[in-house]
Amino acid sequence: MRLQFGSDRPSGQSLAKLLTSTLLLLTTFDSVVAVKRENFKTCAQSGFCKRNRALADEAVAAGASWDPSYEIDTKSIRLGEGLFRANLEKTVEEGVKVELPIVISFLQNGGARVQVDEKRRQEGKIELRNDSKARKERYNEAAKWALVADPEIDEQADFNEKEGKVEVKWSVWQNDAVIEFKPFGVKFSRGGETHVILNERHLLNVEHWRPKPDGDDKCDSCWEETFGGNTDSKPRGPESIGMDITFPGYTHVYGIPEHASSMKLKETRGGDGQYTEPYRLYNSDVFEYETDSPMTLYGSIPFMQAHKKGFTVGVFWLNAAETWVDVTTRKDKKVTDTQTHWMSESGILDLFVFMGPNSQWLYKYYTELVGTTPIPPMFALGYHQCRWNYVSQDDVKQVDAMMDKFDIPYDVIWLDIEYTDGKAYFTWDPQTFSDPASMVSNLDYHKRKLVAIIDPHIKREQKDYTVVKELVDKSLAVKNKDGKDYDGWCWPGSSHWVDCFNVKAQDWWKAQFKFDKFKGTADNVHIWNDMNEPSVFNGPETTMPKDNIHHGDWEHRDVHNLYGMTFHEATYAAIKERNPKKPTRPFVLTRAFFAGSQRTAAMWTGDNEAKWEHLAQAVPMLLSQGIAGMPFAGADVGGFFGNPSKELLTRWYQAGAFYPFFRAHAHIDAKRREPYLVGEPYVSIIREAIKLRYSLLPALYTSFHRASWEGMPILRPMFLMFPDDEEALTIDDQFFFGDTGIIVKPVVEEGATTTKIWIPDDGIYYDYFDYTIQIGQGWGTINSPIEQIPILMRGGHIFPRKDRPRRSAELMKDDPYTIVIALSRVGAAAGVLYVDDGETFDYQNGQFLHKSFVYQSNKLTSKIVNNDPAKAKPYLKSISHVFVERVIIVGLPEGAVKEKKAKVTVGSKSWEAEIEFYEEHVGRASFAIVKNPKVPIGEEFEIELL
Ligand code: NOJ
Repeated sequence: MRLQFGSDRPSGQSLAKLLTSTLLLLTTFDSVVAVKRENFKTCAQSGFCKRNRALADEAVAAGASWDPSYEIDTKSIRLGEGLFRANLEKTVEEGVKVELPIVISFLQNGGARVQVDEKRRQEGKIELRNDSKARKERYNEAAKWALVADPEIDEQADFNEKEGKVEVKWSVWQNDAVIEFKPFGVKFSRGGETHVILNERHLLNVEHWRPKPDGDDKCDSCWEETFGGNTDSKPRGPESIGMDITFPGYTHVYGIPEHASSMKLKETRGGDGQYTEPYRLYNSDVFEYETDSPMTLYGSIPFMQAHKKGFTVGVFWLNAAETWVDVTTRKDKKVTDTQTHWMSESGILDLFVFMGPNSQWLYKYYTELVGTTPIPPMFALGYHQCRWNYVSQDDVKQVDAMMDKFDIPYDVIWLDIEYTDGKAYFTWDPQTFSDPASMVSNLDYHKRKLVAIIDPHIKREQKDYTVVKELVDKSLAVKNKDGKDYDGWCWPGSSHWVDCFNVKAQDWWKAQFKFDKFKGTADNVHIWNDMNEPSVFNGPETTMPKDNIHHGDWEHRDVHNLYGMTFHEATYAAIKERNPKKPTRPFVLTRAFFAGSQRTAAMWTGDNEAKWEHLAQAVPMLLSQGIAGMPFAGADVGGFFGNPSKELLTRWYQAGAFYPFFRAHAHIDAKRREPYLVGEPYVSIIREAIKLRYSLLPALYTSFHRASWEGMPILRPMFLMFPDDEEALTIDDQFFFGDTGIIVKPVVEEGATTTKIWIPDDGIYYDYFDYTIQIGQGWGTINSPIEQIPILMRGGHIFPRKDRPRRSAELMKDDPYTIVIALSRVGAAAGVLYVDDGETFDYQNGQFLHKSFVYQSNKLTSKIVNNDPAKAKPYLKSISHVFVERVIIVGLPEGAVKEKKAKVTVGSKSWEAEIEFYEEHVGRASFAIVKNPKVPIGEEFEIELL
């Protein structure tokens, strides 16, 4: 057996060593870090990708003489109730046609869904080779996992059948579609302008079922595929689907994470600075991944946005099999079109088209389908302290104490795999973690949490390990192609994998987390799901064989990209249900993900490196996550592999303080680097960065609330806020932080003391720390010595803060607010605050406060904007002791402060508060601080400057 090591194995070790004691693993290695490309397929090594790409090449070579073989059988067309139904026919050879039922649903949101299946397989009239136990149909359940609701069909859609085509008009947006019969294609337009074209280049390709011919067959890798010593038996033969999607007039496409690449997707068929490989989506444990690459990574979200000045559209290719996407552009006269070519190994074609009109609408429509990120528990937005590994309960205690000693706030300490008894999950190492319950309660006493890792591989050879015994006895593990429990290698050595496609396996999984089963855990223990691509050290491309079988007899091939999500969803449900008396919001971190993962987990970008280019790579990756509807995302602060210099570590904390998920992590071979170990001045600088994060928690939480109802990202790309600013469309190294109007530009260059920042409009911007004014659209320069993070506040915004430093987020619960007002040129600003108890689900019953803040004519007015304020009464009462302690107003017009006093009004009562005022001074804006206005945050109020 040839062993292939996955991402993060201690380098240079044999598997035998790997299985020996933790102490051995602590030896430090000087590894040469480089991705092992040869472990992962290129498109040319992936049979179906190669075949589909070859088809695209043939089409180009043939030009006008290209003879596409797909057409609508006009006799089969049925129109009405918002649906176009017909048979799409594929001509295989003269007189031989394959029937492909097609349904196009026209949706109320102005978009459409296109589904294509294969009739013969729908009817199960095929034969499988090699005595396979797999299902005969094409996989048609990706929607069941990814979607939260069926899309609403516009039953009033108006169909007009004409010679060779059907014209459709539908939705309140009055969109138009033309479905052409021969060759088949669909154009989606609005107001006479076409935005999306399906099959314009005629690359539609549904590899239909056929028996394996005797003798030589020209079909490359169709019947068997060998890679890296593993052979895929392919019992159904070739079955890929592919199609081209063109965005006419669009120059920018974004999304389809996860790749260590720029936010704007590059071209993939060569050219200066472009890629030669398509973007690949095949959840994989890529060892030491490289930056600026279209190689696949741990998760996949096949959602893409295309943007041009004035319009944004999107497509969602709902397929969970291995998928590749080519991106090219076509420049014709003055217009540039972006062309994409989507290829999946199996399954049905299920495509959603979103017709914008802008990015904000796209988030709304897309997340209506796949769900949003729920509001996380407040602690999860604090700082997380992790490494592989905190080696004992004493170690945990010590780190906890040192963080306090050095006055560094944190909320969560993490335990990686070494806490277990021999990597058997739900157990504790009896030597090093002999009393987990008191460790956990000690953390609770400090209002802190523990996150423990639980992976999907279940150790086989462990004496008295009931978990594996039950998994096997109940037959809840993934099966191999012969129907036996699949046996592969991961951390514990020989393992089985829980199959959460099975409801019974989900229920069983949930039971493992009950406090009486996972002993030593309590309400403050949350879970990290790692290696759930799934990572299998001795499997093909470090994952499972594609001919493995899951519940429902689906092949692993069909569901690969969904596996990780089914697993973390079951974990989320387990944590939610483990204490029915006090259900609190779970926190689950996942490495693998698919569209829909955002509903139950946060993600991180896996095993990055302690290098400047990895620090730089993190922001575009996190922006792409937000673009694809999964904004609760972070990158290992400090870099996982290797040892960062003090400067790099410090800069990473400064950037990480703005990641939606903020966790430091390090490989087992890396030196200890808890922030208190770096020495001065770095400790102080890191402390300040973390404290800055904590002070902004109210604003961050408010942004998560927005993400939870309309899918808006937390880190907002410049193009989202300024969609018509050409320069902004490619900027992916700075971002707006939620709703605050704050632009952050992390420093990612060694030795930098100044940083260039793009100012997207003619508004007024203030330095976050000293209120220096920056005006005018264009590139500005900001001083950024090591102790400074380049952050600007855009005039016109108001955001809430809590400025009293505490040891954890929970301890800040009753702290008073600071309201920061950055005035626009005309002296106005607006903003919001959302707050609830930060831990339970009571907010779903209206127990929250949602407030607006408007500042104009020297007066701040704050109103409650809860949709049902009466319902919120119990919550509002519970926060009646929480006050506003100061209001900071930056950029006051001359004469705004005359008496250095403010009139505060709550209901019919008024009183005065003192003002400290600072006049404009050498480039620094004027500002005023209203001191202790004594208004409870839960009341409506006015504060007028006198
Ligand atoms: C792989 C994860 O990416 C890494 O963060 C973790 O430390 C190791 N597995 C060990 O569990």
